[in-house]
Amino acid sequence: MSYNIAVVGATGNVGREILDILVERKFPVNAVYAVASEQSVGKKVSFGDDLLKVEALSSFDFSKVDIALFSAGSAVSEKYGLIAAQHAIVIDNTSYFRTFDDIPLVIPEVNREALGQYSNRNIISNPNCAVMQMLLALKPLHDHTRIKRVVVTTFQSVSGAGKAAMDELFMQTKGKYMNEALPNHVFPKQISFNVIPKIGDFDKVGNTGEELKIIAETKKILDPDIEVSATCVRVPVFLGHSESVNVEFDGYISAETAHEILENAPGVILHHPSAVFTPIECVGDDEVYVSRIRQDNSRENCLNMWIVSDNLRKGAALNAVQIAEELVKNYI
Ligand SMILES: NC(=O)c1ccc[n+]([C@@H]2O[C@H](COP(=O)([O-])OP(=O)(O)OC[C@H]3O[C@@H](n4cnc5c(N)ncnc54)[C@H](OP(=O)(O)O)[C@@H]3O)[C@@H](O)[C@H]2O)c1
Repeated sequence: MSYNIAVVGATGNVGREILDILVERKFPVNAVYAVASEQSVGKKVSFGDDLLKVEALSSFDFSKVDIALFSAGSAVSEKYGLIAAQHAIVIDNTSYFRTFDDIPLVIPEVNREALGQYSNRNIISNPNCAVMQMLLALKPLHDHTRIKRVVVTTFQSVSGAGKAAMDELFMQTKGKYMNEALPNHVFPKQISFNVIPKIGDFDKVGNTGEELKIIAETKKILDPDIEVSATCVRVPVFLGHSESVNVEFDGYISAETAHEILENAPGVILHHPSAVFTPIECVGDDEVYVSRIRQDNSRENCLNMWIVSDNLRKGAALNAVQIAEELVKNYI
């Protein structure tokens, strides 16, 4: 069997990565359609050795595809996701459908079984990038000793905010050395040579949208009883998200045991306790890298750890393609 695939947002960071990963993993494609906004019509994007002509979403006919991978922003998914789902199975990278009760939010290594609910609406949501990498490490630990509470601080790269955000970091960095002004359009403050503890809008109590996603999605995917406290920070890194994670368990678990468990965890690469992983080392890789696992002696039954991953791969495109692989293997 081979499948007709539409990649909506094909000119963007996530869309281009999806196209590359479909080729790399030899996904059984019959035809692939690259779809984006009107302004990209006529442009070409790479698909292996081929070039695909970009088509406009507004006139795209979803009846000719089996699976549509959306990564063109929440507003686009809101407007076109349900239309596409009348004809194709939609795998949505945006946050729009993630909290819908009848739409599964899936990380295959963590809650593969939730995928069965795809037929409720013909839509599957791909989780938030920061959630994805954290839960890959936390799931096997939670299976061993129940997790009660997670306190996470993220250090998120600019690629998580799209291609325009990467350009903004580049231009501001270059501008600094050229003694030019450093205007900011994508971020609320200068991002070069700076960090910004605000990703998304504030709610009434001062949590940002990104922080609320981490809380809600951890509960939906892993366990509704886990309490989560999140602080999300944008950092001047092009690619690769990092997270400092403090985990409180129901009972004692040593750093050595956590190490042993994560050594065999799917999709996780572990570093010796005396070494560290940095985001630049995970760029282009599929795995989530965990280092600095250590006891937090300030509190009972707590561990600290440092988790980094390529946010465009496991944090977005790779997971979406893995969902598509599960679908064709077990469901369609
Ligand atoms: N980057 C990450 O780490 C990450 C992780 C998980 C989820 N996501 C989500 O994935 C989505 C895309 O992220 P990204 O980083 O790829 O953004 P991006 O680089 O800015 O790309 C946006 C894509 O959406 C297309 N698009 C925008 N408006 C459109 C419209 N009205 N109709 C059709 N296509 C439209 C753009 O096409 P044009 O080039 O024609 O404008 C482009 O292909 C976002 O919702 C984001 O939250 C991103």
